[in-house]
Amino acid sequence: METPDILERGNWGSKIAFIFAASGSAIGLGSIWRFPIMVGLNGGAIFVFCYILSVFFIGFTVMLAELTIGRHSQKNLVGAMKFIKPGTPWKGVGFMGIITGICILSYYSVVAGWAAGYLYKTIKGAFMGEFTWEASDAVFKKFAADPMAVLIFLFLILVITTFVISKGVKIGIERWSKILMPVLFILIIILSLRAVTLPGSGTGLSFYLKPDFSGFNLNVLFFAVGQAFFSLSLGMGTMTVYGSYITKKDNLISSAGWVCFSTTLVALLAGIIIFPTLFHSLQLTPEQFKQDFEVSTGLMFQAFPVIISKMPGGYIFGIMFFSLLLIAALTSTISMLEVPTSYLVDEKKWKRKNAAILIGIIAFVLGIPSALSNGGVKFLTKLNFMTIMDLIFGNITLALGGVLISLFLAYSWKVRNSLNEISIGSKRFKLKSLWTFNIKYLAPVVVTLILIFIIIKNII
Ligand code: TRP
Repeated sequence: METPDILERGNWGSKIAFIFAASGSAIGLGSIWRFPIMVGLNGGAIFVFCYILSVFFIGFTVMLAELTIGRHSQKNLVGAMKFIKPGTPWKGVGFMGIITGICILSYYSVVAGWAAGYLYKTIKGAFMGEFTWEASDAVFKKFAADPMAVLIFLFLILVITTFVISKGVKIGIERWSKILMPVLFILIIILSLRAVTLPGSGTGLSFYLKPDFSGFNLNVLFFAVGQAFFSLSLGMGTMTVYGSYITKKDNLISSAGWVCFSTTLVALLAGIIIFPTLFHSLQLTPEQFKQDFEVSTGLMFQAFPVIISKMPGGYIFGIMFFSLLLIAALTSTISMLEVPTSYLVDEKKWKRKNAAILIGIIAFVLGIPSALSNGGVKFLTKLNFMTIMDLIFGNITLALGGVLISLFLAYSWKVRNSLNEISIGSKRFKLKSLWTFNIKYLAPVVVTLILIFIIIKNII
């Protein structure tokens, strides 16, 4: 029988429901919008290579750690650390996660708002007929620089997110993710098939998939690790909260594995759509790309109208794509808002609705400068406000959170205790010794070294 506490907090209906919900959190703008930008800015395939290694060795490790901490304590990250190690400063990691979550939510919702705006444009027929990259670029710049439009869409996204979260996890998150994630996946496969059959797609593909190892440096690795944390929703307690809703019957290891796998697959496919389309449309060589092409925060929004205009039935595909992107983004914003909300509900006994509304308002106010930093207000654009927020919260504090969560599990709670929790619901843990090594040494040491390097390089 379930304990009353679990009943009150709600549980996932089944393991599959959990995987969909967690993939719903993970798969979103991080894979479809942010990943290709990172690839473009960090030398192409070498970044993809580092990203895959980061997901396998660090992302999976921290994902399993977060799920285990969450299921064991049945709490959010702050509550979990208080529960496992009462009276220690570890709960500070949870607070850092809450702040990080609100800050990421603020600019992430701006981009989700762009997706909503693009859906609206597509429905109105803005992308009909042959559409070049230059034309698409102009549309994006004009749209992102329209202060009223971006603010209205930002507001809309946060209202929907707040509404879903105020209804609670079960009806809220589960229902959305179960049906729509598979449809998104199929659509992405169809679009990538079109992209690779475009004339000239080969150069784009080789830029994207054939690593040039001479382009490797620690910066690339830093952004790859950051991207792994970002796209897998790690390092700030999202997966801890999601883990707290998993039942003891379910297998944590395969759940973590599936989420990592599906998210990475979507990211890789997003790149397969964007780079061939870009190289085809601008007739670029990889050298020209590296020298002349300026990767903007709108990369994905520049590429999709182009590819859609090259497909029979493009109008319908366009509407489907931007609707699903919007939903994928919403299942992620929902998961970000869930972290601070569940903290206020569980620890401070707030009403769910009030907690969600308060955080929603804070995220909106924080989101305004990001919304206006893509041409809306010159000063914010020059300052690169959105990019700075993303650097600090989307890379640095997430990675730091991941290090601290690993250290907490390995040295405070202890690996053997966590292995007891992991063994509930799973018969065998084939990668046990690898995971133990990774959580104790590899993840904390490698990520710390990278962070130190980046901080020294940028400050000195
Ligand atoms: N992973 C999501 C994406 O890729 C974004 C996201 C949701 C997230 N929750 C998070 C990122 C928590 C970092 C931390 O779109």
